[in-house]
Amino acid sequence: MIARNTAFFIAGFTIGLVISFFIANAQYQKAKSAQQSIPPGSAEEKLERPEKSKAGQLVALGATEDSDRAKTLANSNPKPMEQVYKNIQVLKGVPAGQLRLIMTSFTEALGVHCVYCHVSVDEPHLDDKPEKAKARQMIQMVQEINKKYPTQGLVTCFTCHRGSIRPAY
Ligand code: HEC
Ligand code: HEC
Repeated sequence: MIARNTAFFIAGFTIGLVISFFIANAQYQKAKSAQQSIPPGSAEEKLERPEKSKAGQLVALGATEDSDRAKTLANSNPKPMEQVYKNIQVLKGVPAGQLRLIMTSFTEALGVHCVYCHVSVDEPHLDDKPEKAKARQMIQMVQEINKKYPTQGLVTCFTCHRGSIRPAY
């Protein structure tokens, strides 16, 4: 009698395990295919990850593409940056209204604050930090890549840095 109950128990338990395995597996496959069905760069992906907007960098770095927000900012102060700010060496000709957007895009792309490159936010024209000099070289590199190669202007700081000072390599 006890042996028969034990046998029933083991059989029931095993069937339960098998069923829950199939349910879990089906749900995993469903989640996996839902992830794969969003093509990279699609409108859906942009909706899912709005924080990765590249508008500022795109325009500043000589890109062919534009965005409504970047255009609005450019219209808000269309004067070339070097006429408005004290020490602009590489972003020459870029509308001054876009400076803030571009700087914010740097902080997002590298995962840093303004003071990573600037001694202080009150004196952003000073060149006291080597990081600022390196950033200037990086801006020139990205501008050249987008000018010379068929990138559609889509290479930005984020392309390599992905939110970190050191890109993965
Ligand atoms: C990755 C480095 C980096 C970060 C981070 C950064 N900046 Fe800059 N910033 C620069 C560089 C490089 C220039 C000079 C650009 C040039 O020479 O064309 C500059 C120039 C400026 C200027 C113009 C100063 C002048 O009078 O010449 C301002 C204002 C400014 N940044 C503000 C900010 C603010 C605010 C933040 C944070 C939201 C920030 N920056 C974050 C690199 C950075
Ligand atoms: C083609 C890839 C690539 C792109 C695009 C790129 N970077 Fe870099 N960046 C690197 C590599 C590689 C390093 C060196 C990292 C190291 O020293 O470990 C670096 C280093 C830096 C550093 C110095 C970090 C340190 O520890 O001294 C700064 C600042 C920087 N990048 C800013 C920028 C900015 C701003 C942009 C966009 C205008 C940009 N980078 C775009 C690849 C890139």
